[in-house]
Amino acid sequence: MATELPPASPSLAQSRAWFARAAEVIPGGQYGHTAPAAGLPGVFPYFSEEAYGCRFRDVDGHEYLDFMCGYGPIVLGHAHPEVEEAAERERARGRVHNQPSRIMVELAELLTERIDCADWAVFAKNGSDVTTWALQVAREATGRKKVFLLEGAYHGVDAWCTPGYGGLIEEDRRHVHRYRWNDLESLEALFREHGDEVAAVFTTPYHHPGFAPSVWPAEGFLPGMQALCERYGAVLVLDDIRVGFRLDARGSHRVVGFEPDLACYCKAIANGYPLAAAVGRDSLRSAAGRVFLTGSYWNNPESMAAALATLRILERDRVPDRIRAMGERLGAGLEAAARRHGRTLRMTGPPSAPYPWLEGDDDLRELQRFCAAAVRRGAFFHPHHNWFLSAAHDEASIDAAVAVAEEAFAACAAGEGGDSDGR
Ligand SMILES: Cc1ncc(COP(=O)(O)O)c(C=O)c1O
Repeated sequence: MATELPPASPSLAQSRAWFARAAEVIPGGQYGHTAPAAGLPGVFPYFSEEAYGCRFRDVDGHEYLDFMCGYGPIVLGHAHPEVEEAAERERARGRVHNQPSRIMVELAELLTERIDCADWAVFAKNGSDVTTWALQVAREATGRKKVFLLEGAYHGVDAWCTPGYGGLIEEDRRHVHRYRWNDLESLEALFREHGDEVAAVFTTPYHHPGFAPSVWPAEGFLPGMQALCERYGAVLVLDDIRVGFRLDARGSHRVVGFEPDLACYCKAIANGYPLAAAVGRDSLRSAAGRVFLTGSYWNNPESMAAALATLRILERDRVPDRIRAMGERLGAGLEAAARRHGRTLRMTGPPSAPYPWLEGDDDLRELQRFCAAAVRRGAFFHPHHNWFLSAAHDEASIDAAVAVAEEAFAACAAGEGGDSDGR
């Protein structure tokens, strides 16, 4: 793929044509987080063609610097040669067998050696598979029904946690209660009311809601949550699906300082190959063994080989340190570019998975204009979701993105994307 940036205001003719075809045969044309309404309709391409390193190309032939990385799975860069080779070696021996491969055991051994709260591991395909299973394990272990969830957190598409509304019945959420981030009192109040009925408390390592800045845990918040779980006998579940292995090759809880009983991973675990994992403590091993867990593709050794390769590279190449440094370079560059155009931009959350926040822009319209102007110039920035960096982002690509941002801020100041712009 060429390294030049695509021209400004690329035509999306092919994207639009394919979307029209999709709308005939797929409800809404696209759904979930890639549906146009969740992004920037008319600016984001609707279909992509190929991806390599830190770039992707859409169906109209425009190339973008990729700051979404497939919404998180790509941590080493698209089509990383060592991961592809490891996966291909397994693929050549068959995709789905009647038995698991020995690789599953090796992968479980690696996770239990590497993650301090892991005495066992199980595997599935998507994050939702393991968050839902984790709740079942907590219920099986405690004999209780209730679950405390963080307000604004995402844990997947199953009925107990989906942010959507369609198809739900009130019973789906009967045992779900919400606490607020960095508000231990809100959690304590739930424990006081339902302490002898609660099976699990779910948390993320830091708060990463959509459409809002990311927030780190306040001092003592997560250890306080852990102490409450211990006092009331609830299972503390870490949902580390968003950034697991990205902040620390041994799990994000090491960065924020607490010890979960059960942890869920997906996204970065296999650099884009479909795989999810749950790990847990010995105290939950027997309950875990009693909760049925399976799927048609879950034994697929290709993804597990990709995970083994990815996890080894993450540690060998100190990838979390590298992507943090690149994220800091990006953040500093973007914040300075914003200042030069009279805006205050804060890159919130971890530098390798930052969420941008423009001061005084609570309805996100300015951020949407800025991201649209950047996308038209070849840097794929998202205004509603945290971004992701990969090990394929180097100084040159970060600096190129900062240069795009500079132009984008200037274009916004000149009225691009504004009410009178007609775009
Ligand atoms: C924190 C978190 N939990 C759970 C999920 C669900 O994972 P999946 O989309 O693979 O089912 C996601 C997906 O974005 C997530 O970010």
